[in-house]
Amino acid sequence: MPADREPSEFDVEIDRTNTSSSKWDKYRGRDVLPFWVADMDFAMPAFIRTAIAERLEHPVLGYTRTPEDMVEAFLSWLKREYGWEVPEEWLVWIPGVVTGFNLAARAVAQPGGSVLIPTPVYYPFLSTPRHAGQESIEVPLVKDDDRWVMDFDAMAAACRAGTRLFMLSNPQNPTGRAYAEEELRQLAAFCLRHDLYLCSDEIHASIILAPDAGHVPVAAIAPEIAERTISLYAATKTYNIPGLGCAVAVIADARLRRDFRRAMVGLVPGIGPLAYAASTAAFADASDWTQRLIGYLRGNHQRVREVVGARMTPVEATYLAWIDLTDLGFPDPAARLEAFGIGLSEGGDFGGPGFVRLNFACPRSLLDRGLARFEDALARLSSRPAPETVSD
Ligand SMILES: Cc1ncc(COP(=O)(O)O)c(C=O)c1O
Repeated sequence: MPADREPSEFDVEIDRTNTSSSKWDKYRGRDVLPFWVADMDFAMPAFIRTAIAERLEHPVLGYTRTPEDMVEAFLSWLKREYGWEVPEEWLVWIPGVVTGFNLAARAVAQPGGSVLIPTPVYYPFLSTPRHAGQESIEVPLVKDDDRWVMDFDAMAAACRAGTRLFMLSNPQNPTGRAYAEEELRQLAAFCLRHDLYLCSDEIHASIILAPDAGHVPVAAIAPEIAERTISLYAATKTYNIPGLGCAVAVIADARLRRDFRRAMVGLVPGIGPLAYAASTAAFADASDWTQRLIGYLRGNHQRVREVVGARMTPVEATYLAWIDLTDLGFPDPAARLEAFGIGLSEGGDFGGPGFVRLNFACPRSLLDRGLARFEDALARLSSRPAPETVSD
């Protein structure tokens, strides 16, 4: 522990072996530190464990309707955090946000239809149109100084007559952008002009790191955009309970809501009582736990930037760094880095080949070990001949 900072609850390294953790078991038996999938290596707050334990005091875990206090906690959260007041009837509860955007695509799909997606993006977005029998139109984000932004001209040019849906990740995974209200207004106008539905995945809304950034729910901007938007929320990222899937779609338009619900029939299971208990406690949280988490993540972000430098843009939101390794000349840099004991997400899976995504939501000591390996790997890979000239 460096002398210049106080110990933190987030410094504790938790052994996740024998929990069948997706993140850690990917490299079971190998000396590879995992910084890939977006789950944090931090303990959930005590008040969530208590809420789960209290529910477990009842011995029956039956099929469960959405509890009233869940609805109340979520609606109050939306109002408290963003000043957005919505009626209960707009809510559709679902077991996950990925489920939600796949349902959105199915709900609005038409024969010959297509879906517009800015890339790079959280990789399940990319297969969503195909699952709904729709074409996918991927339009790259562009770098404007130190920020990735939507390219409205390119998106307009890419739009076709049958384009039905725009899929937004905000805050953006993997570039870490928290889109500003002005950009979202421009997007809303774009969707209206091109007659597009909008599916807005806002799962990272509460993890805003940049002091001058904030989260704006796009549907709260104006009733006209709310009428064509499916907004998706969950507390599972912020409170590190992704194994207790619980999410909610906010859909203002009755017909769109009906079509969304129809797409669920026979496929989407209900949410379990423990997941409801955990997410209710999370949305009702009035403590400063999230602020403490964000403070810690800011420190980690600083460490990552010190090592990664200009290869990444500053992360405004999320705990994910999008790192440009295109100069190394590998289409699969994450696979190369694995050989040096660091497990990152492959940028190509997000539509950004040559990049890697690093999840820095872990104790600083673990992050520092990973960053040391990353530096070592980069030094070695950069000093190699370009891949085309490597001989066997
Ligand atoms: C942008 C984004 N959306 C959705 C998810 C997953 O949501 P869920 O587990 O509720 O399906 C993630 C997880 O990393 C994510 O980063």
